Amino acid sequence: MHKDFLDIIDYRPQELLNLLDLAIRLKKEYAHGGNEPVLKGKVLAMIFQKPSLRTRVSFDMAMRHLGGDALYLSPNEIGLGQRESIADIARVLEGYVQGIMARVFAHEHVLELARWANIPVINGLSDYSHPCQALADALTIYENFGRIQGINVTYVGDGNNVAVSLMQICAKLGANFTIANPEGYDMPADAVQTAINVARESGAKLTFLRDPHEAVQFADVIYTDTWTSMGHEDEAKQREKVFPPYQVNDQLVSEAAPDVIVMHCLPAHRGQEITDSVADGPHSRLFPQAHNRLHAQKAVVYTLMKGD
Ligand code: CP
Ligand code: NVA
Repeated sequence: MHKDFLDIIDYRPQELLNLLDLAIRLKKEYAHGGNEPVLKGKVLAMIFQKPSLRTRVSFDMAMRHLGGDALYLSPNEIGLGQRESIADIARVLEGYVQGIMARVFAHEHVLELARWANIPVINGLSDYSHPCQALADALTIYENFGRIQGINVTYVGDGNNVAVSLMQICAKLGANFTIANPEGYDMPADAVQTAINVARESGAKLTFLRDPHEAVQFADVIYTDTWTSMGHEDEAKQREKVFPPYQVNDQLVSEAAPDVIVMHCLPAHRGQEITDSVADGPHSRLFPQAHNRLHAQKAVVYTLMKGD
């Protein structure tokens, strides 16, 4: 197991399955009276360069449930790479806390934190990827279908950080991943190439399309996310012109398998990438999915921070 949790692609399939098994065990344990305080006395520093609801609260609660604590460091306080270099921040923090979770703009910044810190570093979202989200997503898919291998996961919308991590976990665990996104909004080519190589080993089928209707045809899961990710707000108007054909609405859902589930990492922009009727309808798994962030991340901090 690596010191850090930076990207799904860094893990062997068995390591990801072990994290999912642990998440399931900790979720059960928590529901039946609570978790063992295995992280007693341990503190996770949470660095945020961007806003958050789920990541902030679920990591904080994960630490508390395991007997530890978490410390929120806002964008203004740290000034990552501005007030102080990332290398210096990493070496200072490792003397105070036992783990770092960071939500950053440039992916390189979370990699640099991990390079310099002798304590675990967790990627809580970068412009490139969102591995904690993908782990919770895999848990949600497993809970719904009793397996991940062979499930058809279709992502509709922007080829963003969430799409990249979802593609990676599908490729690792043998789920078939299809994406339909507009031209000009593809996932990064290096991420696609690496996932194609991994999929050859797992047997996952990866499909890259433009037409959302074609993409959902055999979908067991339809997944969408915001058209405009944090940091791209100046492109929002242009994106609102391009993305409407990619809206997940009742019509699109009716074109998929009858028992299709709909997922969204949240926050949702209702009326844009997803309609109210779908978000609140019978196929929606939006809230169990959000709740699974707690259980998936509990498995991550348990594994990385428990020690001997
Ligand atoms: N899905 C997700 O990461 O949500 P937050 O931005 O609220 O943390
Ligand atoms: N793609 C979105 C995910 C938010 C959790 C963003 O980066 O803003």
